[in-house]
Amino acid sequence: MIDLKGKSIVSIDDLNTEELTQLIDTSLRLKDELYVGEFHEVLRGKTLGMIFEKPSLRTRVAFETAMTQLGGHAIYLGPNDIKLGKRETTEDIAKVLSSMVNVIMARVFAHKTVEDLARYSKVPVINALSDFEHPTQIIGDMLTIKEKFGGFRGLKLTFVGDGNNVAHSLMLAGAKLGMHVVVASPKGYEPSTKIVKRCDEISKTTSATLEVTNDLESAASGADVIYTDVWASMGQESEIEERKRIFAPYQVNSKVMSLAKPTAIFLHCLPAHYGDEVTEEVGHGPQSAIFQEAENRLHSIKAMLVHTTR
Ligand code: CP
Ligand code: NVA
Repeated sequence: MIDLKGKSIVSIDDLNTEELTQLIDTSLRLKDELYVGEFHEVLRGKTLGMIFEKPSLRTRVAFETAMTQLGGHAIYLGPNDIKLGKRETTEDIAKVLSSMVNVIMARVFAHKTVEDLARYSKVPVINALSDFEHPTQIIGDMLTIKEKFGGFRGLKLTFVGDGNNVAHSLMLAGAKLGMHVVVASPKGYEPSTKIVKRCDEISKTTSATLEVTNDLESAASGADVIYTDVWASMGQESEIEERKRIFAPYQVNSKVMSLAKPTAIFLHCLPAHYGDEVTEEVGHGPQSAIFQEAENRLHSIKAMLVHTTR
């Protein structure tokens, strides 16, 4: 049995293959139990502090609902409550908050902020999205892939679009789980070379593969999973018009889906901009699993809280 008690999850790379696999398995078990009305109030009396520098639907609701179902409590601290880094330093916030709550989650602009929170906190800190990674998203996505395909090894997972936070966490998880990950991005928007290097290293022991390309057609061909995300992430609003022009050839539409396997599924972390990165026909079509994927945020976040909170 893995032991993640007291451990922060800032990056997917904070988890080894066994820990990642166990979190996905726990998510599945908690989901099955919830469906038959079984609750385990294992976090009774525990409090989650939630720091948000950016908006959220899925992540906030998943964390709060998770704490309710686990018998604990969650406190929402929005951008105007603590004014992270402006009213008070990240270090002081981490020290004060972790002297009162049992676990912290943070959605931040700069990845360094969540790294600093974890460094100075006495309790686990979970990255609920930074500009570099989105680990809670990807654990839920892997649960969806497991439900759809029964496993991971050898599946071709193609991410189309911006080499962003979601792409980075997906690449790391794919490498750890032995998948064939392909990222198709426009020139200049490829994922970080640091992540590519780290995935290459991980792949040596997991027989995963990673390819970064500008060629959407070859990337989509024979894929089991086609995944996309918005073209401009939170914090990049001023680039929206320029990005719309650059990313237009990378839209996931029925032509792109027809290149993938007939059994392929479509994933999107949401929120989606239909007509931009994905057509409504694909997003709401028969191959789409986006709403199962969104629901799975709850089950996977519950698993992360159960395993890390003391
Ligand atoms: N996918 C995701 O993180 O959604 P929210 O931004 O609504 O939390
Ligand atoms: N890449 C997106 C993901 C939103 C869940 C963003 O950072 O805005």
